[in-house]
Amino acid sequence: MAGGGAAASALSTPWRSLLQRALDGNAHLKHSTFFQLATVGGGGRPANRTVVFRGFQEQSDKIQINTDARSNKVCC
Ligand SMILES: Cc1cc2nc3c(=O)[nH]c(=O)nc-3n(C[C@H](O)[C@H](O)[C@H](O)COP(=O)(O)O)c2cc1C
Repeated sequence: MAGGGAAASALSTPWRSLLQRALDGNAHLKHSTFFQLATVGGGGRPANRTVVFRGFQEQSDKIQINTDARSNKVCC
């Protein structure tokens, strides 16, 4: 994309490079890609689950997580 546009501004988020640096520096630790994802489901019910960081979606600061569409993580 010429000039960068939305993709370039997404890549300039300050936390993305800090997160990538921390991941790179701890790549030798198997658990370094684990993080906790807190959500609020139906009726305001909170949940805090461990998930695996799978990378950033291409040309963005969107974090990729794999899950099973049948799980109650996807729908309350
Ligand atoms: C180390 C670890 C990594 C996990 N990574 C994922 C993951 O990437 N995606 C996912 O859907 N669930 C992952 N889970 C499982 C869920 O976070 C959660 O523990 C499981 O779904 C049971 O919680 P629930 O009954 O509240 O859904 C992981 C669990 C552990 C312990």
